Amino acid sequence: MEKKEQLYEGKAKKVYATADPDKVIVSYKDDATAFNGLKKGTIVGKGVINNKMTNMMMKMLEKKGIPTHFVEELDDRDTVVKKVQIVPLEVIIRNVAAGSFSKRYGVPEGTAFKSPTIEFSYKNDDLGDPLINDYHALALGLATEDEIETIKKMAFAVNDAMKQFFSHLNIDLIDFKLEFGRFHGQIVLADEISPDTCRFWEAGTWDTTHHTSLDKDRFRRDLGGVEDAYKEIFKRLTEGE
Ligand code: TMP
Repeated sequence: MEKKEQLYEGKAKKVYATADPDKVIVSYKDDATAFNGLKKGTIVGKGVINNKMTNMMMKMLEKKGIPTHFVEELDDRDTVVKKVQIVPLEVIIRNVAAGSFSKRYGVPEGTAFKSPTIEFSYKNDDLGDPLINDYHALALGLATEDEIETIKKMAFAVNDAMKQFFSHLNIDLIDFKLEFGRFHGQIVLADEISPDTCRFWEAGTWDTTHHTSLDKDRFRRDLGGVEDAYKEIFKRLTEGE
């Protein structure tokens, strides 16, 4: 399958049309941004790792009965996916307090939750992806009630599958962001699952005073060792195959 015209360029990926109106090709870049594009940089090799890792995750989730947009990996950076209409919600699942949750609610990073949480952000760069609730999403017509229920169930199912998967790699899945799309009326998991969109902490080494991040927080927070963290995650993923 070949790339036709470029349809869209995002912060981390480009999307191309194909000869099939139901399929597009996503091409992963090494560009990294944080804080809604305010901080910009390059993480060398990130595009290859995020492409391959996302595809591994999508295949693993399909096996668990979760429908995804994945079709076929073409090469190191390019993958054919179903052409979905993205639901403009960032769906965030958290197992442990970190990042914006810790800031907003004054809970130290590394505080484990009694049960996982879910939150939605309205996907809108001009507004800085503001937090919204189900009723806001319904009121604004961003998704139907059925779609929101499906998205919640799928997001928690993804969490169960991923937590288990990463525990075998000695990595704790702290939180992550998902996006969903509509494909011929069905909600499917879309976008990516990578160190850009998940917090991964080295297992068993963290509490509320310290943790070792193996994800994009190393870039967001200028911790150094950014490329090495992506490589380490990818190494464990491929060793575990
Ligand atoms: P947060 O704590 O900053 O809200 O981030 C929660 C999770 O969502 C974290 O794993 C990183 C991911 N995330 C994205 O994928 N894209 C974003 O734009 C932001 C802000 C977070």
